[in-house]
Amino acid sequence: MIILASDHAGYPLKEEIKKFFNRENIIAIDVGCYSKEQLDDYPDFAKAANNKVIEDPRNVGIYICGTGIGMSIVANRNPKIRAALCHNEKFASLTRRHNDANVLCLSGRFISARKAIKIIKVFLTTEFEGGRHSRRIKKY
Ligand code: RB5
Repeated sequence: MIILASDHAGYPLKEEIKKFFNRENIIAIDVGCYSKEQLDDYPDFAKAANNKVIEDPRNVGIYICGTGIGMSIVANRNPKIRAALCHNEKFASLTRRHNDANVLCLSGRFISARKAIKIIKVFLTTEFEGGRHSRRIKKY
């Protein structure tokens, strides 16, 4: 399952991502926020989404705030979350292959919806390589 979260600054991009998921028949759970007008707090949504992501090891999260930085800081406070802020497809590929990232953080203010969807496609289709990377992840 894919868990979506944003604050007000990430809300417009999250809506574009939901349209893409609808077109592709990809099911996602949106834990909020539900408006770009309200000045809400990204930690609330990152924590709510983390709780859903860790319910099943197959789950992944996509968290969006203005920069993606706040979301990634909060997300990574949960020891079962490996969140990566990605601005391009190469980072998305590497963080899946090397870090087994289970949360993708995106900037709602500094990347386009088109770019975000390209990054998401790579994130969702790239496998963890295991091997030496498993050893390193166990040291987190
Ligand atoms: C909200 O203005 C902004 O601070 C937030 O979306 C995020 O970028 C924080 O890291």
